[in-house]
Amino acid sequence: MNIVVLAGGNSTERDVSLVSGKAVYEALKSKGHNVVLLDVFFGIEDVDVENIFEDKRDWAEGIKKIGVDNPDSDYIKSLKGADKDFFGKNVREICMKADFVFMALHGANGEDGRIQAALDLMQVKYSGTDYLSSAICMDKSITKELFIMNGIRTPKAYTIRTEDGFKDAIKEIGFSMVVKAPNGGSSVGVYIVDTEEEAFNAMKECFKLDNHVLFEQYIKGREFTCGVLDGKALPIVEIEPVEGFYDYKNKYQAGSTIETCPAKLDEDITLNIQKHAEEAFKALHIKTYARIDFLLNEQNEDFCLEANTIPGMTPMSLIPQEAKVLGIDFPELCEKIIEISLNKY
Ligand SMILES: Nc1ncnc2c1ncn2[C@@H]1O[C@H](COP(=O)(O)OP(=O)(O)O)[C@@H](O)[C@H]1O
Ligand SMILES: [Mg+2]
Repeated sequence: MNIVVLAGGNSTERDVSLVSGKAVYEALKSKGHNVVLLDVFFGIEDVDVENIFEDKRDWAEGIKKIGVDNPDSDYIKSLKGADKDFFGKNVREICMKADFVFMALHGANGEDGRIQAALDLMQVKYSGTDYLSSAICMDKSITKELFIMNGIRTPKAYTIRTEDGFKDAIKEIGFSMVVKAPNGGSSVGVYIVDTEEEAFNAMKECFKLDNHVLFEQYIKGREFTCGVLDGKALPIVEIEPVEGFYDYKNKYQAGSTIETCPAKLDEDITLNIQKHAEEAFKALHIKTYARIDFLLNEQNEDFCLEANTIPGMTPMSLIPQEAKVLGIDFPELCEKIIEISLNKY
């Protein structure tokens, strides 16, 4: 197939996306596809668009490891100066030449349904879920409303739209609590707080990122994540940061987090989490694949946190680890995602 892998973008998860994109690009190339890796935001100049899939340059050249801190989205946006078009040079044209676009974008303008909607209008087929469920899952407040409506246990939460709601949020949730920018990802805009002052400062930071802020009950216990591929749960991974919680650094710096797959859990708990992952997938109208995050409290009750509709896709990432337990290697997983993504058309 002639495939475009879309990566980069202008979100705080840009660096993670480039690394996912590079891995998917190399995997699909190893399977014999003609693959072009594009930075959706910066695009590419001076290329022969008509014959782009014959261009055998190394499209992943220069992509670096993920840094300790997340990139600054405003800074990335400023690099294009007066050019207000989100799509970089030739990106739309090249996508329209492809048989398929593999989405390796994370966070805003990538995982949130906007590009999916644009690709629909361009009549280009892409990986992962559709624009509607992408948008639903991007917003943790709306995600939780659907969890509650569908009987999926999730930590108690309260959303505010202006700072006036702060006192009520504190009263409703109590300490410890987690303050979140609902449209974030990679733990950017997630604060675990123990005092009113910390909560207030966290809220201020979250309002810089979003127009509403989520206050959530803190769940003490173990953390897990469970991929769902074509509606069926994969083996579960347990996530244990060596220090602190599963923040940006602990997510992407080697050795910061112990990840165990399959997770060491009693069979009934495993089956419960997998069942809840499949239910969450359905409740959020997700198609194709996703990764669902869970916390397990000391009474062994599992709480669903959120769904990631374009989860990390390096061979070390969580879904690839889960697939590997089933004997599916990374290039096979990438092809499987393409195969099941085509079913949505
Ligand atoms: N209610 C909670 N109680 C305890 N820890 C939490 C809670 N919510 C989030 N966390 C921690 O913060 C991390 C990121 O939160 P999450 O809601 O999954 O957002 P993101 O989209 O950034 O991954 C989780 O992986 C977990 O370690
Ligand atoms: Mg998460």
